[in-house]
Amino acid sequence: MKMPPLRTLLGPLGLAAAIGAGGCRPAGDAGAGTPTLEHGRYLAENIGMCVDCHTPMGPHGPMMERHLMGARIVFEPTVPVPDWIAIAPPIAGGFPGWSREQLVQFLETGVNPDGKQARPPMPHFRFNHTDAEAVADYLVSLKPQY
Ligand code: HEC
Repeated sequence: MKMPPLRTLLGPLGLAAAIGAGGCRPAGDAGAGTPTLEHGRYLAENIGMCVDCHTPMGPHGPMMERHLMGARIVFEPTVPVPDWIAIAPPIAGGFPGWSREQLVQFLETGVNPDGKQARPPMPHFRFNHTDAEAVADYLVSLKPQY
């Protein structure tokens, strides 16, 4: 096969590099390449469903004035589950005693800083690094009034 001239290949690549280096980000997207808090909120609320367990349930659903501030688990397993724990700790503002990096690692690996997995029904999440950072940044950004 006859190769196209090198110049033809480099042209589009050079252009892409120039655009990538330039300021072609949408306005309001702070911090080049950093995950947005909105993405973290979306992952926490719509994908990881943290609210279902970490926000207390009231008669009309989750009590958003106590958003992610820790709760009793309101459901039970139908068969005995070893180590089941019916309390979900507070995670608004980050997990008490953990750095943001420890939280990111936990969300990425399912393993906490003690080298253990959280007890059921806490899921063992395997977010990718970018998504784990987004969720951690979102949680840390919350300013709960405990
Ligand atoms: C199905 C219920 C449930 C869901 C959904 C859930 N959690 Fe949990 N979570 C728990 C329970 C129960 C614990 C307590 C586990 C323990 O003490 O071992 C816990 C513990 C934790 C801990 C502390 C872990 C440790 O090792 O002490 C963090 C951090 C956490 N959850 C974050 C989250 C985040 C972030 C989400 C959503 C992306 C989430 N959880 C979704 C029930 C849940």
